[in-house]
Parts: sequence; C-alpha cells; structure tokens
Amino acid sequence: MGHPLLDFLLLLLIVAITTDVAASQPSGNITLNSLITAGENLSYWLSPSGDFAFGFVPVPSNSSLFLLAIYYAKLPNSSTIIWIPNRNQTLSLNSSVVLTTDGQLSLRDPAGAEVWNPSVQNAAYAAMLDSGNFVLASSSGSYLWESFSSPIDTILPTQSLGSNSELIAKLADDDFNDGRFKIKMQDNGDLVFYFIAVPTGFEYSQYWDTNTNISNSSLFFNSSGRVDLVSPTGQLIDTVTSINTNSTADFYQRGTIDPDGVFRHYVHPKSSANGAAAEWTSMDSKPGDICKALTKTGSGVCGFNSYCGYDRRGMVACQCPEGYSWVNPKRTYKGCKPDFAIPRCIDGFQSVGFRMVTVNNLDFPFQDYEQFYPMKADECTQLCLDDCFCAASILDGTGNCWKKKFPLSNGEKGSYVQRTAFLKVGNNDTLPSLSLERKKSLSLPASLGLGGSVLLNLTFLSATLIALGVRRKKQRQRLKGFKLGSNLRSFTYSELEEATKGFGEQVGKGACGTVYKGYLSTEQNGNPDVAVKKLRDFEPEMEKEFTNEVKIIGQTHHKNLVRLLGYCNQGVVRLLVYEYMCNGSLASYLFDGVRPPWKQRVEIVLGIARGLRYLHEECSTQIIHCDIKPQNVLLDGNFTAKIADFGLSKLLGTDQTRTITRMRGTKGYVAPEWFKNSSITAKVDVYSFGTMLLEIVCCRRNVEKEMTEDKAVLCFWASDCYMAGRIDLLVEGDDEAMNDMGSVEKFVILALLCLQEDPNLRPTMGRMMQMLEEKVAIPLPVIP
Ligand SMILES: *[C@@H]1O[C@H](CO)[C@@H](O)[C@H](O)[C@H]1NC(C)=O
Ligand SMILES: *[C@@H]1O[C@H](CO)[C@@H](O)[C@H](O)[C@H]1NC(C)=O
Ligand SMILES: *[C@@H]1O[C@H](CO)[C@@H](O)[C@H](O)[C@H]1NC(C)=O
Ligand SMILES: *[C@@H]1O[C@H](CO)[C@@H](O)[C@H](O)[C@H]1NC(C)=O
Ligand SMILES: *[C@@H]1O[C@H](CO)[C@@H](O)[C@H](O)[C@H]1NC(C)=O
Ligand SMILES: *[C@@H]1O[C@H](CO)[C@@H](O)[C@H](O)[C@H]1NC(C)=O
Ligand SMILES: *[C@@H]1O[C@H](CO)[C@@H](O)[C@H](O)[C@H]1NC(C)=O
Ligand SMILES: *[C@@H]1O[C@H](CO)[C@@H](O)[C@H](O)[C@H]1NC(C)=O
Ligand SMILES: *[C@@H]1O[C@H](CO)[C@@H](O)[C@H](O)[C@H]1NC(C)=O
Ligand SMILES: *[C@@H]1O[C@H](CO)[C@@H](O)[C@H](O)[C@H]1NC(C)=O
Ligand SMILES: *[C@@H]1O[C@H](CO)[C@@H](O)[C@H](O)[C@H]1NC(C)=O
Repeated sequence: MGHPLLDFLLLLLIVAITTDVAASQPSGNITLNSLITAGENLSYWLSPSGDFAFGFVPVPSNSSLFLLAIYYAKLPNSSTIIWIPNRNQTLSLNSSVVLTTDGQLSLRDPAGAEVWNPSVQNAAYAAMLDSGNFVLASSSGSYLWESFSSPIDTILPTQSLGSNSELIAKLADDDFNDGRFKIKMQDNGDLVFYFIAVPTGFEYSQYWDTNTNISNSSLFFNSSGRVDLVSPTGQLIDTVTSINTNSTADFYQRGTIDPDGVFRHYVHPKSSANGAAAEWTSMDSKPGDICKALTKTGSGVCGFNSYCGYDRRGMVACQCPEGYSWVNPKRTYKGCKPDFAIPRCIDGFQSVGFRMVTVNNLDFPFQDYEQFYPMKADECTQLCLDDCFCAASILDGTGNCWKKKFPLSNGEKGSYVQRTAFLKVGNNDTLPSLSLERKKSLSLPASLGLGGSVLLNLTFLSATLIALGVRRKKQRQRLKGFKLGSNLRSFTYSELEEATKGFGEQVGKGACGTVYKGYLSTEQNGNPDVAVKKLRDFEPEMEKEFTNEVKIIGQTHHKNLVRLLGYCNQGVVRLLVYEYMCNGSLASYLFDGVRPPWKQRVEIVLGIARGLRYLHEECSTQIIHCDIKPQNVLLDGNFTAKIADFGLSKLLGTDQTRTITRMRGTKGYVAPEWFKNSSITAKVDVYSFGTMLLEIVCCRRNVEKEMTEDKAVLCFWASDCYMAGRIDLLVEGDDEAMNDMGSVEKFVILALLCLQEDPNLRPTMGRMMQMLEEKVAIPLPVIP
C-alpha cells in the first residue's frame, strides 16, 4: 500500500486500459472493449444518422444522477426517452457501460459491480441503429438481442409489439416506475388497454380494446404512419392510430402510452427549418375519450377524490373539487385530500361543521351505497349532509339521488355528464390532527410513582369553599368599565376569626393553604356560609402583588367559577373569602361514593369547559389556572361545577418557574412542558382538562395502581381502547353512559386531543367548547 513503484505500475495499467477502451467510435458499429461513462463528454453511442443515442442522460430532477437510455439525440434536450433497461434505476456519476471482450454488454456502477446485463454472450459488435433500435449482433449480423424486443412505453416505426408483450405507462412524466395503465398484445389476438394497480401491476379492468381475435397477432408500427394490428401472416387486421401527412423522412414518430392512459401517436419535425418551435404533437390517439374510461376498482383516470376533464388543448386535466387539494400537486395521480376532517360518525355529529357544495355536470359513478327516488336537489343535499357516512350525493335529471362514500373515484366532469354533484366539505375550521405522543419510557413503575402522589393529593383540599351572595346585583355588572376590586370586601382578621369561630372547622387543605368554613351574620343574602382560605407561606414582599391579583380575581364573574367575596391583608396574614360550595369537590363526588348520574357528569364537563374558556379567553386579564384537577372543581347546591383556586398560581409567585419542586400543579395532571424548557401557556390547563375529562367519563382516578398494568394509567388505557375501537370498555357497567356512546366517544377523542404532547396541537378552550357543543367538526384522530 502506498509503495511508489506499485502506484506507478498501477497508473500505467490504468492508462493502458483506458487508452485501449476509450478509442471507441461514437457512431456506427460499436466494437468489443468499448466503454462509455456517465458524466463524461462522450457518454453515448450515436446511430449513423445521429438521430438516436444510446447512453447516459442526467435525471431532470438531479443532475448528479443518470439514466441509461435510448433517446432522440438531436432534440434540444434528452427529455424524450424511448427506452431504458430498468425502469426505476438511477445511476450515479462514473457508472459505465462496457461491451466486453467476450461480447457481453454490461452496465456497471462506479465501483465496477454489474448492475444490468441483457444476458447475451459472444456478441461480435453492438450498434445503435437509425430506427432507434439498439442491437447486439453476432458476427453473421443476426441480432442476439435488441431493445425493440423489450419496450417500455413507446414503440417506433418498424418496431412491433409481439404476442404477449406489453407497453406500460410511466407513473409520471419524470417517473419511469410502472404506472397505472398498460397495453397488452394478448395471444388471443386482442389488443387490450388495462387499468393496473401500482405497484403490483394487477389488472383491474380493461378500458379499450380492438376486439379482435386472430391468435398471435402483433402490433406493428408501419413506417407509412400507422400503428396496425397485423396477423401472424402479415395481414392487416385493424389500425389503432394513423396519420397520413407526416412522413417518417421528415418527422420523428412514436407511439407512447402516456401516464394518463392514452396511447398517442406523436410526430416531431426532424428539423425546425421553418423556424417554428418544434415540439411533439399528438396526431391520433386511443381511446378517444379517456375520461369516460371507468374502473370499478382503483381510482379511474385521475386519482381518488379527483375528477377528469380536458384543458383547452384537449389534454387530460385532473382537478380537485372545492374543499379538496392535491396530495402532491406534481403527482396528481395521487389524488385529492379533503381539506377538512372527514366526519366522525358520532351520534348527533353529522352535519355540524359541514356544508354542501354544488357542482353541475360532475359525477362519481361508483361508491354509491344508498339510492333515493324521487328527490329534489335540496332533499338530495340534505340527506347527505345529515349522514356522516356520506361524502357526496349525486342527482340525475329524473330524480334519482345516490349517496356516495369515501374515497370518491372515477370522477368525470363535462357537459355530457347530466348529473349534479353535492359534495360535503368542512367549514373552514381546520384543526390539527391528533397525534398522541406516548412516552414509551413512562412505564409502569414510573406511573405508580405518579399514582402515589395523586393519592396523597387526594387527601388535600377535598371539600372547600363557598357561598354567600354578596351584592348580587353588582355581580351582574358588565366586566368592561368595572372598577378594580370595587365589589370585593376587605375584611379585618377579627371579623374572619369570628366568622370561622376561631378557624375551628377545617374543610380542606391544599398546596395554597387551609380552608375553613365560616358564617357571616352581617350578610343579607340568603346564604351566609363562606369558605375562608388561609394562604400559607406568605412572603411580605408580595404585598403589592397580592392586592393586584386579588383585584383581578375579584373581577371575574362567571357561573362556573367560585366567587371571591373578599380578602384580608393584615400584617403577614393573607385570607381569601369565597362563596361556600355545599356539595364539595368533584373529586369526592366522582371517586368517593356511588357513580354519579351520567347526565350530571356531562353537565359538569360543559361547566368546567365554560369556566376555563372564560379564564383563558374572556376575562380582561388572561388567567392560567395551572392546577386543574377534580379537587379544584367544586359543586354547588345544584351540582353546577365551579372552578376554585384560579389566579392563585400568580399570587403564590410560582407560575413562572418550571422547576419540578416549585412547579405549580399536581403530578398526573401537569402538562409535559412543565418538565421542559418551553413556555407555560394556557395549554397547560387544556392538558389537565383532558386528564380530568377522562376521569369524569370513567369515574376513576387517572392513576389507579391497584389496577392491572394495562389499565393503571387512564390516559394510556383510554388511547389503547380508542385505537382498538373499544371505547365501550371505558364505561363498562355504566349503563347510562353505554346508552350515550356518541358522547362518550366524543369526550374520549377530545380528551386525547387535549393530551397532545405538543401544546400547539391541543385545542384552545374556546375551540374545545365549540367541539363540545358540536359547532365545529372534530378532527379525525391519528394516533401513531
Ligand atoms: C457493422 O458491422 C456489420 C457486420 O460486420 C457490417 O455489415 C456493417 O456494415 C457495419 N456497419 C457499420 C456502420 O460499420
Ligand atoms: C469536454 O467538454 C468540455 C466542454 O465542451 C471541453 O472543455 C473538454 O475539453 C471536453 N473534454 C474532453 C475529454 O473531451
Ligand atoms: C442527487 O442525488 C444524489 C445521489 O443520490 C444525492 O446525494 C443528492 O442529494 C441529490 N440531490 C438532489 C438535489 O436531490
Ligand atoms: C426539455 O424538456 C422539458 C420536459 O422535460 C420541456 O419542458 C422543455 O421544454 C424541453 N426543452 C426544450 C428546449 O425543448
Ligand atoms: C425497481 O423495480 C423492481 C421490479 O419492478 C423492484 O423489485 C425494485 O424494488 C424497484 N426498486 C425501486 C428502488 O423502486
Ligand atoms: C468520477 O471519475 C472522475 C475521473 O475518473 C473522478 O475524478 C471522480 O472523483 C469520480 N467521481 C465519482 C463520484 O466517483
Ligand atoms: C372471431 O371473431 C369473429 C367475428 O368477430 C367470429 O365470427 C369468430 O367466431 C371469432 N373466432 C374465435 C376463435 O373466437
Ligand atoms: C401462436 O404462437 C405460439 C408460439 O409461437 C404457437 O405455439 C402457437 O401454435 C401459435 N398459435 C397459432 C394459433 O398460431
Ligand atoms: C405498411 O403499409 C403499407 C400501406 O400503407 C403497405 O403497403 C406495407 O406493406 C406496410 N408495411 C409493412 C411492413 O407491413
Ligand atoms: C405534420 O405534423 C405537424 C405537427 O408537427 C403539423 O403541423 C403538420 O400539419 C403535419 N403535416 C405536414 C404535411 O407536415
Ligand atoms: C372558506 O374559505 C374559502 C376560501 O378560503 C371562502 O371562499 C369561503 O367563503 C369560506 N367558507 C366559509 C363557510 O367560511
């Protein structure tokens, strides 16, 4: 290695080989030991006339990749490729083709490994012929192999497509992979055009044929300008395409099955002496109207949910209906995707969030699953809008109405289509689709750890707070222009000491402090009971912030928030006075006794959502709760849910910190961003709401370590059930819920949306409320 002499010898050897090999002629017969290399100047062999070349052409989309191809050498670029050895094989720079000394044609990668070989030995020479045929010939001149015998999608004058041979369209103009159409010269004598499946090539159905039956016929491109079907004895049976004005002397001609399924007979002037911009022109084609070619299986000519029409030049133009867009605009055969979430078939959900778009002269002939008669346009429209399975409805001129399901296929539009399509599309609300990130690392031991904390937390702050209608009239005042804190009463410590009988009756205890029941004899309103919260660890320097925050909390007025009635800031003592909630916390309501009625739970969900929406979006200063959990939702005498303890996170000065020790919130309910270096937004409450939503549906705590591993963590179990299509397992034994599976499913999906790892993917509470109230469509959940 690295020996100078060795290197020199090696160099000599290489020089010897390359000089020997590089001496090949670019046109005429190609002698043994000739070589062409991708990326070099002479990387092709020309036909004697120079019309055709066999060699390397750069891939249009990537000039560092090449195809080995036969192409029109004189046309401005090498875009018209007639033949390639392997449809889907791109080659890198320095790939080469060698006609070896033992008469084999070998395509090699830059390292010299063989990539392709037509399996012919002892050829005497090779030749790129003026017909466009590349041949390996014996010394007697007979062809051992020819490119004409393995066509791709094109045949040329003098070429024939023998019995049992096929032409397969490219997938797209720049994608040589097998496409969606083929022409087969069947041995029964019929020339048949097939729709085929990508990628297997399975034959869906035929869309055109010559309907001929003379065995062993072949397709022959007669140089006088016709593509004929000829019998084994050479007799003309049928003509597939023909032109009669453009001679092969002055025009290149080719017959190609294009990616749109049409076999076109193209001509191209050999010289553009007249100065006209020379291009390929289709002079004849089969079938005449490809848009009318239908296939029961597969998408038809255009992709799924797309429809077929023609542009001004008469070329096939596939289009997406309103409300849909291309899956890939450069690959229209991939079809159109709805720009909205496909309706979920949940009771009462069907038409909400959707509208109908009318398109005249459009039909999707298949995919119907129901038919009605007689129908008027508005009836046919409404039937589809009200049916969650319905993607579109089609009305004909006599009153037949068909409901169609996804994916739509074989769409055809044109004045001859005497039908009207009504397409169901989403209102313009677009939602992120669900992608629940499950941390595989959070295995059961970790979950149990959380479970322990949750159980501990449950003992805190269970019953709390509540009522006394201080100045009910003032409560009704509008928020705007409301004077800061004007409806809050400032208490003295002794007043509250007296009201709570010396802080004797403790009704709750939590992270923020201890809650005592009190009784205010001075209040005229019906309910004199109050809950007095003694804040713990209050730091004197927070004096100013305390007053500010209390005023902000005091401004909140909402049916689903626990009212702050007053406060006391005397010395180091900080007390908050709330209305008293006689039915205690949601936690004890859900977990401590018999299962509460389903209807009541549904109302509670709506109440909490409204309260949170108010905090996040409707009050003058946004309030992020940071500790949403069943212990912090209280129930009044009518079991109306009221959120408690909001605004305290800022009051306690903990909302800006993300360290776990000082983090506000309760394990099991806190959003993942608390553990990351990302900003804390209102979406942390949305996450907690998601957890709580599942708890309300199932009447169980998020973490129950007594349960089996698969069920121990409710969020995971719920997503498992959802994925398995067994949401019913979550409410097993709960007959009321079982009878309202539509709502159960809705809640579970919404909860899963809230539990997205990425806060941006969680809905806002405003959006959540709309989805709960079924005012907008709920996205189709995608769980990896
Ligand atoms: C190619 O070789 C064959 C057979 O040796 C010969 O008949 C033919 O004329 C040659 N063609 C050219 C263009 O040299
Ligand atoms: C290749 O082509 C370039 C530009 O046409 C020319 O400068 C260069 O000398 C050529 N190389 C060889 C080996 O012919
Ligand atoms: C072109 O192909 C090469 C080799 O496969 C690849 O490394 C490169 O990224 C491609 N370039 C483009 C623009 O796609
Ligand atoms: C080269 O081929 C592309 C298609 O691949 C075509 O759009 C372009 O017009 C061609 N250029 C010329 C000069 O013909
Ligand atoms: C190319 O096509 C062959 C056969 O059609 C197939 O086996 C192979 O996987 C394809 N390769 C690529 C990269 O598509
Ligand atoms: C191709 O060959 C040339 C000259 O032999 C060499 O300089 C170049 O590095 C090679 N490139 C690749 C990608 O093999
Ligand atoms: C071929 O077709 C002709 C007419 O279309 C019919 O008379 C004849 O029986 C067919 N022959 C066979 C073998 O099917
Ligand atoms: C068709 O061709 C095959 C193979 O060349 C042959 O075996 C068969 O007899 C032919 N059939 C007819 C009807 O000519
Ligand atoms: C091509 O068609 C002409 C008639 O237009 C006919 O005379 C000639 O024999 C055909 N050629 C072949 C090879 O079949
Ligand atoms: C031949 O084809 C061209 C299209 O390239 C067309 O315009 C012309 O009319 C045709 N006929 C003759 C005689 O050139
Ligand atoms: C939806 O958006 C489109 C364009 O973005 C607009 O033309 C249409 O009026 C909107 N429809 C509704 C119901 O908002």
